[in-house]
Amino acid sequence: MKKIVSDITQFQYFYPYTVAVVGARKGEELNYMSCAWHTALSFHPPLFGVLVAKKRRTHGFISQAREFTVNFLGRDDILLSARMGRISGYEQDKIKTFKVELEPAHSINTPVLASAYAAFECRLQDVRTYGDHDLFVGEVQTVQVNAQSFDAEGVLDTRQVKPLLYMGCDLYLTVDPETLEHKLPD
Ligand SMILES: Cc1cc2nc3c(=O)[nH]c(=O)nc-3n(C[C@H](O)[C@H](O)[C@H](O)COP(=O)(O)O)c2cc1C
Repeated sequence: MKKIVSDITQFQYFYPYTVAVVGARKGEELNYMSCAWHTALSFHPPLFGVLVAKKRRTHGFISQAREFTVNFLGRDDILLSARMGRISGYEQDKIKTFKVELEPAHSINTPVLASAYAAFECRLQDVRTYGDHDLFVGEVQTVQVNAQSFDAEGVLDTRQVKPLLYMGCDLYLTVDPETLEHKLPD
């Protein structure tokens, strides 16, 4: 039996989503936040979008810096996701407090997370408001990937890496590589 909902206060029925930590720099300050609402938008040029609510500290950082990094986490980083996603940089410096290990980016001034299995270095191309979130669209300048985490075609090797997936409501899971199947149409 279907439940029909028209008074929509939340609609988290599309999860799971991979967790990305989005970071930006403002002068000497750095701010990172967990982001589940993200999407690729174009191959050529390579465009990637992240949806950030206006009230996030990261929002002001990206707007000012006009660049950001997108860092994809494995399951081992579940606590890092919870910290970056449940504490605001307005309350404390998350990078210093939690001693988050960073590595320099190649094309921009915002570091990537050392533990990310893949990270995008993006220059801001466009910003659009959609309700209570802004879509920041970045052109990916450089991608940093752990070579051993991907096969020759760039597909994530889920026997090596357990991607961290978010279900909403502080619930996380990962994938079962046993269910991987290559399928073409008949
Ligand atoms: C797993 C996870 C995913 C999240 N995804 C988003 C998102 O896509 N967009 C958003 O604006 N906030 C998202 N949040 C909330 C922010 O990460 C959270 O409010 C964070 O503390 C903001 O930090 P800041 O104020 O330092 O920018 C998410 C939180 C969690 C735990």
